[in-house]
Amino acid sequence: MNYNQMSDAEKKAELALLLEKYKDIKSQGISLDLSRGKPGKDQLDITTGMLGVISQGADCFSKSGLDCRNYGNLDGIPEAKALFSELLGIAPSRIFIGGNSSLNMMYDAISRAMIYGMGEGNIPWSRQGNIKFICLTPGYDRHFAICESFGIEMISLELGPDGPDMDEVENLVCNDPSVKGIWCVPKYSNPTGTVYSDETVRRFAAMKPAAPDFRIFWDNAYAVHDLTDNKIKLANIFDLADEYGTVDNILYFASTSKITFPGSGVAITAASEKNLAQIRKIISVQTIGHDKINQLRHVKYFQNANGVLRHMRHHAEIIRPKFEAVISALENDLGDTGIARWTNPKGGYFISLDITTGSAKRAWELAREAGVTLTNAGASFPYGKDPHDRNLRIAPTFPPLSDVKKASEVLTLCVRICALEGLLQK
Ligand SMILES: Cc1ncc(COP(=O)(O)O)c(C=O)c1O
Repeated sequence: MNYNQMSDAEKKAELALLLEKYKDIKSQGISLDLSRGKPGKDQLDITTGMLGVISQGADCFSKSGLDCRNYGNLDGIPEAKALFSELLGIAPSRIFIGGNSSLNMMYDAISRAMIYGMGEGNIPWSRQGNIKFICLTPGYDRHFAICESFGIEMISLELGPDGPDMDEVENLVCNDPSVKGIWCVPKYSNPTGTVYSDETVRRFAAMKPAAPDFRIFWDNAYAVHDLTDNKIKLANIFDLADEYGTVDNILYFASTSKITFPGSGVAITAASEKNLAQIRKIISVQTIGHDKINQLRHVKYFQNANGVLRHMRHHAEIIRPKFEAVISALENDLGDTGIARWTNPKGGYFISLDITTGSAKRAWELAREAGVTLTNAGASFPYGKDPHDRNLRIAPTFPPLSDVKKASEVLTLCVRICALEGLLQK
């Protein structure tokens, strides 16, 4: 029943019933965790075979004859570039293969801009006074943490079902030279699962920023992380940018963290040849090269893009039931209450839940007291502050399915309690 249409007496009766249930759950002393956006053990297990593809010296040579045990190839082995190129539709000449983390590469990109300037010849960001980034909300907390740690002002814009409102983005980017960047997770966005429409991607590609050192931080972390065979295709921003002559505006990031092993995968930055020349020059001072044996391991294991896509189907088979369990709990317990709305992503790692304004922190706390850990309320917003205190991020991949089911029930119970408490206070 719709909570908003209940009489006060009905609300009180319903609340009493739910509190009774809550008390019972609390007494069970459960300990469940829906906070961690990482693969479960069963997912890691399907990639274990990769560890065996290099077991002796002779395995360490790439097809092009490179001995991957040695120094060299700062920006990666050609075979790994070819694999990412085929998978993501980006020319190998625009790919720089880094270490084990794309987040690390994003942090470094900003750090380099601060120290040396973004783009050859531009004034370092650290010497330009107050600079700003556009942050789409709800979004990825670690993007916002990078801005916060460098003192970059964050401008929040709400993420819509097709991406951000591009009128607002263009207005900021094309008129204000202190706006230096925007964080985008264009496919299966963290945490909403949003996929940017073709029109949104085209408008990003067409933008003519006011600042010469503005960059779109295109974090395609979930490029191949579809939950169903009905894959959603993201428009290729580099192809479109080539049409508009704007390719220097893009810094593209991806990794195999949630394809193989998080923390032991392979990450890339893709950028125009001009941007890559500056990136290479600076990184060549920082390192002689990244882990080529791991790059080769990935190449040998997957062979080609199809190998990766086949592997991703296995991941989907494992995690789809967990997403379905959360969605079905939300539908069953909150569907007709009129107090919540949620996303139903077709890929990625998260579900975003919006509940009654002003109650996310309280729901988070209630869940914690009942033994269910959720990502901190507000985490998906700049400075950790949800202006409406209504968003919760659900990460269903890590726990076993039975835990996901139980934790979802506890969560919806807490959400209902908070909503009724709020309504009765009005
Ligand atoms: C949007 C997004 N980008 C980047 C990362 C981290 O990627 P990596 O492991 O390559 O640093 C995550 C991890 O959750 C993510 O959600």
